[in-house]
Amino acid sequence: MGAGRSGKKGVWMAIVFEGLVSTLGPDGTRHLAPMGPRFANGEGDAFFELAPFQGSSTLANLLSHPWGVFHITDQVFFFVKSLLDQPQVDWLPADVIQGWIIGGACRTLEFQVIASDLSAQRSRLTCQVVNRKHLREMGAFNRARHAIIEGAILYSRRHLLNPVDLADQFARLVPLVEKTGGEDEKTAFELLRNVLGLGKNDQAVDRS
Ligand SMILES: Cc1cc2nc3c(=O)[nH]c(=O)nc-3n(C[C@H](O)[C@H](O)[C@H](O)COP(=O)(O)O)c2cc1C
Repeated sequence: MGAGRSGKKGVWMAIVFEGLVSTLGPDGTRHLAPMGPRFANGEGDAFFELAPFQGSSTLANLLSHPWGVFHITDQVFFFVKSLLDQPQVDWLPADVIQGWIIGGACRTLEFQVIASDLSAQRSRLTCQVVNRKHLREMGAFNRARHAIIEGAILYSRRHLLNPVDLADQFARLVPLVEKTGGEDEKTAFELLRNVLGLGKNDQAVDRS
């Protein structure tokens, strides 16, 4: 793999893309989770590194069945729904691995885990791309969609964040969603806000 730790500080020279990983459980159950793998140069790389936390279903599944699908999509609703519960999705069989693709994906990378490092709380799985597919065009940049991704990340780290900071960071996303989001983005944001117990009028904390 081209990516590696560089320099004295051990900083990874790579780019992270946020997407959704589907895996298969030992009983054949399909599982979908948002993940941000690292690519050394870009999406066209033959390898990427996935870093699921120890204890996650994604890691457990990939250790028992080392094949999965990384999905790139503009449908941010999936990021939220797959964090809260497993969403209703149209599943399509993957082309070359035993695995599944979600309807709504723009591009997919079917992969095989070829090496794993479980020495840290965040595992490091080296994944080899075995098939890539273009299903449809990706939608345009939209600030609300990016805000949903940020909101979903905040939700997934809620146990690590001070509640005031969480509410503050979340409140900063509100205008982006309200000004630029469509129906799906607003619904996804509302789901996150409800599950975090944040009111519609919660404001960013003024620290000035
Ligand atoms: C955009 C986004 C990217 C994420 N990337 C990662 C990741 O790279 N590794 C990880 O362990 N969790 C990541 N998470 C959090 C997981 O999706 C979340 O903890 C989820 O519950 C995974 O656990 P599961 O495999 O048990 O479903 C990410 C969440 C979001 C919203």
